[in-house]
Amino acid sequence: MAQASQQHWIATAGQALHGGLEIPGDKSVSHRSVMFAALADGVSTIDGFLEGEDTRATAAIFSRLGVRIETPSPSRRIVHGVGVDGLKPADGPLDCGNAGTGMRLLAGLLAAQPFDSVLVGDASLSKRPMRRVTAPLAQMGARIDTEADGTPPLRIHGGQPLHGIDYELPVASAQVKSAVLLAGLYAQGETSVTEPHPTRDYTERMLSAFGVDIEFSPGFARLRGGQRLRATDIAVPADFSSAAFFLVAASIVPGSELRLRAVGLNPRRTGLLQALRLMGADIREENPSTHGGEPVADLVVRYAPLHGIEVPEALVPDMIDEFPALFVAAACADGPTVVRGAAELRVKESDRLAAMASGLRTLGLRVDETPDGATIHPGPLGAGTIESHGDHRIAMAFAVAAQLASGEVRIEDVANVATSFPGFDTLARGCGFGLVA
Ligand code: S3P
Repeated sequence: MAQASQQHWIATAGQALHGGLEIPGDKSVSHRSVMFAALADGVSTIDGFLEGEDTRATAAIFSRLGVRIETPSPSRRIVHGVGVDGLKPADGPLDCGNAGTGMRLLAGLLAAQPFDSVLVGDASLSKRPMRRVTAPLAQMGARIDTEADGTPPLRIHGGQPLHGIDYELPVASAQVKSAVLLAGLYAQGETSVTEPHPTRDYTERMLSAFGVDIEFSPGFARLRGGQRLRATDIAVPADFSSAAFFLVAASIVPGSELRLRAVGLNPRRTGLLQALRLMGADIREENPSTHGGEPVADLVVRYAPLHGIEVPEALVPDMIDEFPALFVAAACADGPTVVRGAAELRVKESDRLAAMASGLRTLGLRVDETPDGATIHPGPLGAGTIESHGDHRIAMAFAVAAQLASGEVRIEDVANVATSFPGFDTLARGCGFGLVA
């Protein structure tokens, strides 16, 4: 991490953006694919696996839990599943890196094992709230210790008999839902989760693909404990959340046109597409198909003048990872944009409301922050030094904003971009960004 904090980018206005881009695999799907393949009976092949630090950390954890995982070529994994009862205790703490998804889903899974485990993470993950998973898991009979303030490390005491619960999530969270469902696989009886707003349903869809009998509809899922998983092959679609930066970049840089190939368009992920279209963006979907059971299409995005909007609160869960990109679109629009109902942004890899507001202020804008949102007042963007707080999406968002800045934007602490989007800077330069690593 010492070296990580020294890496920075110098970003400046580049050219109009052009080209056809291959966006790396979806982070959420990649985490789950390796987890469920590890628990299955038989051998599963994963194609399009995200070679990011987060997802590699999850794969490395399963290797340490006794699962043989081969990497015959980049973005491909062959996972020799050990069955739901085949994991072995690791010889020390398991490092989830920067990944909230990895840690929270593993908490549910490892709470149900006959052995103890310890989950640790990097500086950012070590500050993130874990009671949202340990509380429902405790209701199921699990024993997990956190630090006094509810943060990692998670010390998981194995060997606890679990029983099913009907859990109503207080916040919309796919990670919490997934942790409870994974524990539910090992629990006596049925486990159900009800969400205040539907969230991404990859756990439900993928467990079903692995042969688990699971009932689900938007905002609800239920399964019975004691089921086994059957190996299957998984094709991971391109990550919409990574594509988001290029959707915004091409929308704001005059003369741009980009084609982002075969991007995953699961409706629980594409709130930004709707928000950008409400702002006047020109984004077309071409060559629609399905990839590993997920809808995908090429996204063709052209420059279009944007106008500010009140982001509909109903869209917030479907664009929860896209607010850094949305803030940049708002900064370059005509008229203010208002965000409400997004308090969850304060407990992501950084406090994203504060990080985006302060970065945009550094570049000369007025941003009025509220506890659960912000109003972004657009204007000309100047030069400055931006603190990314080691948050991959803050760093990439400001690389996009810099494409309209009047001077040099120095973005500090960018190494964590590799957690979700290795090669972002090369891809960005290749289509016209002004960006020096
Ligand atoms: C994720 C769920 C979301 C999202 C995160 C990935 C997942 O988190 O922000 O990047 O893969 O389940 P929450 O469940 O905390 O909303």
